[in-house]
Amino acid sequence: MAKEIKNVEYGLEKIFEGAQDFLPIMGTDYVEFYVGNAKQAAHYYKTAFGYQSVAYAGLETGLRDRTSYVIGQDKIRIVLTSPLNSSSPIAEHIKKHGDGVKVIALWVEDATSAFEETTKRGAKPFMNPTVEKDAHGEVVRSGIYTYGETIHMFVERKNYKGTFLPGFEKWVSEYNPASVGLKFIDHMVGNVGWGEMNIWVKWYEDVMGFVNFLSFDDRQIHTEYSALMSKVMSNGNGRIKFPINEPAEGKKKSQIEEYLDFYEGPGCQHLALATNDIIKTVTELRARGVEFLSAPPHTYYQEIPARLGEHMNMMQEDINVLEKLAILVDADEEGYLLQIFTKPVEDRPTLFYEIIQRMGAKGFGAGNFKALFESIEREQEKRGTL
Ligand code: FE2
Repeated sequence: MAKEIKNVEYGLEKIFEGAQDFLPIMGTDYVEFYVGNAKQAAHYYKTAFGYQSVAYAGLETGLRDRTSYVIGQDKIRIVLTSPLNSSSPIAEHIKKHGDGVKVIALWVEDATSAFEETTKRGAKPFMNPTVEKDAHGEVVRSGIYTYGETIHMFVERKNYKGTFLPGFEKWVSEYNPASVGLKFIDHMVGNVGWGEMNIWVKWYEDVMGFVNFLSFDDRQIHTEYSALMSKVMSNGNGRIKFPINEPAEGKKKSQIEEYLDFYEGPGCQHLALATNDIIKTVTELRARGVEFLSAPPHTYYQEIPARLGEHMNMMQEDINVLEKLAILVDADEEGYLLQIFTKPVEDRPTLFYEIIQRMGAKGFGAGNFKALFESIEREQEKRGTL
């Protein structure tokens, strides 16, 4: 596994040994979902998660086959796209997978070179470098396939001053629910099939120049009934983190298998969204109807001081409040983190969200995996999919 070179705030400098920055990636540009009804999905995300209206493209802007609503909150940018006819490939995607993540777009300096560097290392092309222009300048985009039917789009926007992309209009709405304090995408997790985790780990290493900086196997991630394995991939500057999960054998069906069954293949399992004040964010999300996984037993919260050890001194949150909101806590050598997981946000038990606040810790809540999976299993039991 890759070693961190020095303990620094994530900037543009390389922080992981062995990472190759032939792209290089400045951050997540946007995440595009293919959904059955983008208009209603946009309303849900604005109302429940506090996103703001950003941009729109559809019949009124000259598109004939699809509609896209762009919503944003601080550095997070989501695109919700629906097809306008049954012969659209977007319709096929939704027919097979339900609502889900289609594009994880990465902000790069040079989208042409990103395409050349990755395809010559074996990436399957999705879109050749394409220049899109309007009165605000030009954007170059290119795309490659990753796991399943998911796409990485490279976006070069240094010569563009518009709201989002050429072809989009600013979306001015009179309905503007307040932000809930979500700041940026901390990580995005992919679920892949049986025995495929290492194939995709190698793909991210070889094709994208990423490194594997954390691994969890089924001895660490298991409950009485189910298990999974996970490896976390990062680009050189640590701005992009993609954990990759695969199911492992257990007595009953794991949540990863349930996902693969209902998504009908590999895909994005969750987006982790960062906040600076998880108590405020989760209180607000709950008030707006977002459903979270249930809290672990009271003993979990009684054990927090022992689990945090020396980091307990710096803990500012009241444990009773965390318990009331069902927020989980974990620690590593460098600090602690607070996290909570929503229930799936579609009818199929597929994509969900994590809300995370890092207080120095760089991990992914491994100490919570057992409590978390037991909570998911209680939900699977109700769905008859355990
Ligand atoms: Fe996560």
